[in-house]
Amino acid sequence: MDVSRFSNRYLVRRVGENDIEEIYALCGGNELYYKFCPPFVTRQSIADDMKALPPNKEAFDKYYLGYYDGDKLIAVMDFIMGFPDEKTAFIGFFMTDASVQNTGIGSRIIRDLCSCLRDNGLARIRLGWVKGNPQAGHFWRKNGFAETGETYGTDNYTVVAAQRVL
Ligand SMILES: CC(C)(COP(=O)(O)OP(=O)(O)OC[C@H]1O[C@@H](n2cnc3c(N)ncnc32)[C@H](O)[C@@H]1OP(=O)(O)O)[C@@H](O)C(=O)NCCC(=O)NCCS
Repeated sequence: MDVSRFSNRYLVRRVGENDIEEIYALCGGNELYYKFCPPFVTRQSIADDMKALPPNKEAFDKYYLGYYDGDKLIAVMDFIMGFPDEKTAFIGFFMTDASVQNTGIGSRIIRDLCSCLRDNGLARIRLGWVKGNPQAGHFWRKNGFAETGETYGTDNYTVVAAQRVL
């Protein structure tokens, strides 16, 4: 998958260990998210997330991505191609830099992603948000995602599953 086509506006590339400091700064500015989805981010949790895979998936299908406006990292996305089935893409994590939030950037990124995936024959995107997080729920609903009715319990919170048909 050529991820540079994920956005018409921003540079998109796979990020790695050398980018952790910058990602950590972006994530650390989003306290509300970690209130609903503890524990608070660490450099190690980012490194772990970069390698984490859902069941039966290979590293090949995983894209831990940075979105750049010039040199500035403005968003991070953990993207899995073909999960839970071949025609479905899965967003494990999506976060924009707090300094650029509420200006439409997140919605633009998702809009461009949807049209790119649709052009590539994908049928839907799945994701989850932590039940009760007003920012996440509002954002995904506004961007055409609807609850599937499934929820996943963890020790600390409940995840609401949602999807958008492309
Ligand atoms: C959710 C997130 C990605 C949105 O990014 P963004 O660049 O601000 O996106 P947009 O500007 O396109 O839209 C933001 C919307 O959220 C709304 N919003 C922001 N804070 C909110 C809050 N506390 N409660 C309810 N809605 C909120 C804004 O009003 C806006 O909606 P509107 O256009 O209807 O007014 C960003 O807030 C973020 O990174 N949050 C932390 C991580 C997170 O929750 N990720 C999603 C779950 S994986």
